[in-house]
Amino acid sequence: MAEAIGGRVGTVALGDNLAILASLPDDCIDLVYVDPPFNTGRRQTLRRLRTVHDDTGGDRAGFQGKRYRTVQLGVQSYLDVHDDYLDFLEPRIVEIRRVLKPSGTLYFHIDAREVHYCKVLIDAIFGRECFLSEVIWAYDYGARATRKWPAKHDNILVYVKDPGGYFFDAEAVERIPYMAPGLVGPEKAARGKLPTDTWWHTIVPPGGKERTGYPNQKPLGILRRIVQASCPPGGITADFFAGSGTAGAAAAELGRRFLLVDSNLEACQVMAARFAAMDGVTYEGFEPGAAGLLA
Ligand SMILES: C[S@@+](CC[C@H](N)C(=O)[O-])C[C@H]1O[C@@H](n2cnc3c(N)ncnc32)[C@H](O)[C@@H]1O
Repeated sequence: MAEAIGGRVGTVALGDNLAILASLPDDCIDLVYVDPPFNTGRRQTLRRLRTVHDDTGGDRAGFQGKRYRTVQLGVQSYLDVHDDYLDFLEPRIVEIRRVLKPSGTLYFHIDAREVHYCKVLIDAIFGRECFLSEVIWAYDYGARATRKWPAKHDNILVYVKDPGGYFFDAEAVERIPYMAPGLVGPEKAARGKLPTDTWWHTIVPPGGKERTGYPNQKPLGILRRIVQASCPPGGITADFFAGSGTAGAAAAELGRRFLLVDSNLEACQVMAARFAAMDGVTYEGFEPGAAGLLA
């Protein structure tokens, strides 16, 4: 666990990220991860459902003719409709670059429909020489299109503020098994390999204990790897589109501090419940304009 600053490990801020970014000083954050809405043009909603046994006439039939009723446990949502998506992103990315330390890194999480436009935009803001990697997160879950290749990956663009002086700790990254361990010899096979820029990882399993009920929650395993590589121990990881707070949960687990921002009250409530359940994670709520966000 990170040493708390002013008695806390992190900060959760409710508000538009542009206003909160503008209130931060230059060069103060080690790692920014953002997973903005993907510009789907609709409200993103996740309903948590449970089926209960109901012989009096539930809405679905089950094994051996038993009847079941669907009960809605909760619903979380956020709006993903933008008149001009790149106009929305641009000032936020300019601010993110400003608040990154000279050794800092941005991970920008997006999908195949928007990634090319975002790459051109972020190249213009950071400089093409600051583009470090494109990580492909590949998963294999859910419905499959049959009239095109089923879309089963996200894209994470990685930019550094200074290509000559950025932080990247490959040794701290958890190693993974070789695909063909027989080809590398027993010693190497036992040690495993550093992941490449293609990451196979399951989505957050529905009904699993990691699941918070927030739409489009990203897996802790993905965020752990990002934090291990690109935020020094004790450093600050920020997520300005925080949702359920996955980046903060990974940071706190790994002994880093966090700053999480979301404009949706439901997201902040989900984060509050998530951190309450984590041992020793203390955080402070924040509103734009208040002093001492990172003090
Ligand atoms: C895809 S979700 C993030 C999910 C998150 N990575 C997780 O693991 O739970 C995007 C989030 O961005 C938030 N958001 C959208 N516009 C925002 C803005 N202008 N300022 C702050 N948050 C915003 C939404 O409320 C939503 O929670």
